[in-house]
Amino acid sequence: MRRRFRRRLLGWYRKHARDLPWRHTRDPYHILVSEMMLQQTQVDRVLPKYEEWIRKYPSLETLASARPAAVDRAWRPLGYNARPRRLHTIAREVMRRYDGELPSDERTLRSFKGIGAYTAGAIRSFAFGHRAPIVDTNVARVLFRVFVGRGDRTSTPLKKYLWSLSAVLLPRRHVFDFNQALMDIGATVCVARRPRCPVCPMSPICEAYPFDPDLEHGSG
Ligand code: ADE
Repeated sequence: MRRRFRRRLLGWYRKHARDLPWRHTRDPYHILVSEMMLQQTQVDRVLPKYEEWIRKYPSLETLASARPAAVDRAWRPLGYNARPRRLHTIAREVMRRYDGELPSDERTLRSFKGIGAYTAGAIRSFAFGHRAPIVDTNVARVLFRVFVGRGDRTSTPLKKYLWSLSAVLLPRRHVFDFNQALMDIGATVCVARRPRCPVCPMSPICEAYPFDPDLEHGSG
């Protein structure tokens, strides 16, 4: 089942991957910026802001030496929230304590405000190629449907189970593509309300197929 899941997912991604600018980089800082922007904002809204931000602050160093008010202003189109200040603080701390290199281990990453389990996994797998799992709302929905199928999607034990599933499913190679693919299939095919099962590569192995929304409890 694991092998079939991986093969189907990666095969699908090769044909249907969205071409997103943060998929052309392995720069840890650029990945950090994109993932913090994507934490609460849709891809379409992030796209122009991400490119603008990278032009304005191309490196951790440039961000660290910017004034807080300028950083807040640059973020403003993405809404008023704590993320620009957190990002700025991370940049300053990394310059001061880690010689300008964003750390790659989970504990240190998660010690920064603004980097939770998901963002740490994204940075580790996308920037450093570590076999680090990621589970966000989209990924949780995909894994739940394919491997569990029906019932409550919100309990803590279930969330833990989905994290462990996301870890065991990770291939040894192609970690970057695998994690990006999980997010894409959740964002474009295995969507919350009307999943597009006829075009989904998982339908033949999916516990929730044929899909019945009344058998699923949980949001997002
Ligand atoms: N949402 C969060 N991270 C993402 C990524 N790397 N690509 C697309 N959507 C995302």
